[in-house]
Amino acid sequence: MSRFAGFALDRAFGHPSGLLGAAGGALMARSNAAAEQQVVRLARLTGAEEVLVIGPGPGVGLRAAGEMAARVVAVEPSAPMRDASCRRCAELPNVAVEDGTAEATGQPDAAFDVVLSVNNVQLWPDRAAALAELHRVLRPGGVLLLSTHERWLPGGRAGLHADVRAAGFADVQTWAWQPNRGTTQAQTRAIRPK
Ligand SMILES: C[S@@+](CC[C@H](N)C(=O)[O-])C[C@H]1O[C@@H](n2cnc3c(N)ncnc32)[C@H](O)[C@@H]1O
Repeated sequence: MSRFAGFALDRAFGHPSGLLGAAGGALMARSNAAAEQQVVRLARLTGAEEVLVIGPGPGVGLRAAGEMAARVVAVEPSAPMRDASCRRCAELPNVAVEDGTAEATGQPDAAFDVVLSVNNVQLWPDRAAALAELHRVLRPGGVLLLSTHERWLPGGRAGLHADVRAAGFADVQTWAWQPNRGTTQAQTRAIRPK
């Protein structure tokens, strides 16, 4: 891949900004919707949970979680994606969108029942630090759900599984999921031990 193509892809999808970010956000809202919604289904929300969403981008999964949980906070480092998420969730008073990353969520200890992340594990600059942070903000017994494009995941499914275990999570399960449209997702579910 040329340097220009890498730059354009990063501005559109990895760290969305400017016109490329706006176009990337619109595309992701369609192309990643199935994975975003599937991960929310996997969380089996009952209306009582407090949920943290990492890197919601245009906010499709964030909205789905907001419709099914008591309170949802999203942390997203891209300003245009924060704006897009806010617009998509404008009618949901239980949803808040904040500046933050997986490594530095800015959230209190043991504040959430569920943490969801779709299509951003591969962007975390320090996966061990990010997993330690997500472990910190989950309540004991809380659920971590990660899903991302398998072909872009450094270390693959096995590496992700090992990293989640090494961060202190229990009952770690990792599998591949194929949406009707789009690329195979590597998915992991794990529990913060009580
Ligand atoms: C490929 S997009 C995926 C967006 C959305 N979850 C989806 O699947 O359509 C990646 C998103 O993760 C965000 N992101 C980048 N680095 C991040 C980090 N270290 N922690 C959390 N989010 C990050 C980006 O700003 C972008 O919105």
